[in-house]
Amino acid sequence: MERILDTARLQLRQFTASDAERMHEIKSNWNVIRMLRLAPYPSTLDNCREWIAQISGEWERGEAYRFAVVHKNTMIGCTDIDELREGRGELGYWFDQMSWGRGFASEAAEAVVAFAFDELGLTLIESGHASDNPASGHILEKLGFRRIGESTIWSNPRGAEIEQYSYALHREKWDRQ
Ligand SMILES: CC(C)(COP(=O)(O)OP(=O)(O)OC[C@H]1O[C@@H](n2cnc3c(N)ncnc32)[C@H](O)[C@@H]1OP(=O)(O)O)[C@@H](O)C(=O)NCCC(=O)NCCS
Repeated sequence: MERILDTARLQLRQFTASDAERMHEIKSNWNVIRMLRLAPYPSTLDNCREWIAQISGEWERGEAYRFAVVHKNTMIGCTDIDELREGRGELGYWFDQMSWGRGFASEAAEAVVAFAFDELGLTLIESGHASDNPASGHILEKLGFRRIGESTIWSNPRGAEIEQYSYALHREKWDRQ
């Protein structure tokens, strides 16, 4: 199913096979990948291709909804909802370092939260970030997420345990912009 989300500056669209090289370029940056605790490390073009190849199946089975984020014809990142179960899902995002600091992740996350509550009918969205990633926490808090816990968890790229903060946003608490 093709679903495109348009925001003021961005288009969120389905990934295609031709995004793999750009994805690999973005994820080859240590400052990006070190924050993605489940990401295969190091990034390879093959694992980016495999990740993209499974997206349409995940979407059709209702397991995960992943959007490529495009700004001025350039794919700058990804925002997704995965771990779907019992009306819940998990929000995630990663962006090219060249695009940081311009509000793009906030804008894309807002659109995907609206999609998840309004179109998927979720009642609860969870998320989390490493304790040394305050920008991610700030994005979540702007959307109305509340921090609900912290834990020690394995980071694949870092090859070490990290402190992770967990967040939740209930649909009725969502402060729609
Ligand atoms: C985290 C990430 C998605 C942020 O992307 P971005 O497009 O720069 O985010 P935005 O500009 O929308 O918002 C970042 C917010 O955090 C704030 N911020 C930035 N650095 C900060 C810091 N060190 N401490 C607190 N807040 C910070 C910014 O000021 C901004 O808030 P504002 O809109 O109120 O000014 C991006 O850095 C990234 O892709 N990092 C690598 C992957 C990653 O961390 N993914 C999330 C895993 S949990």
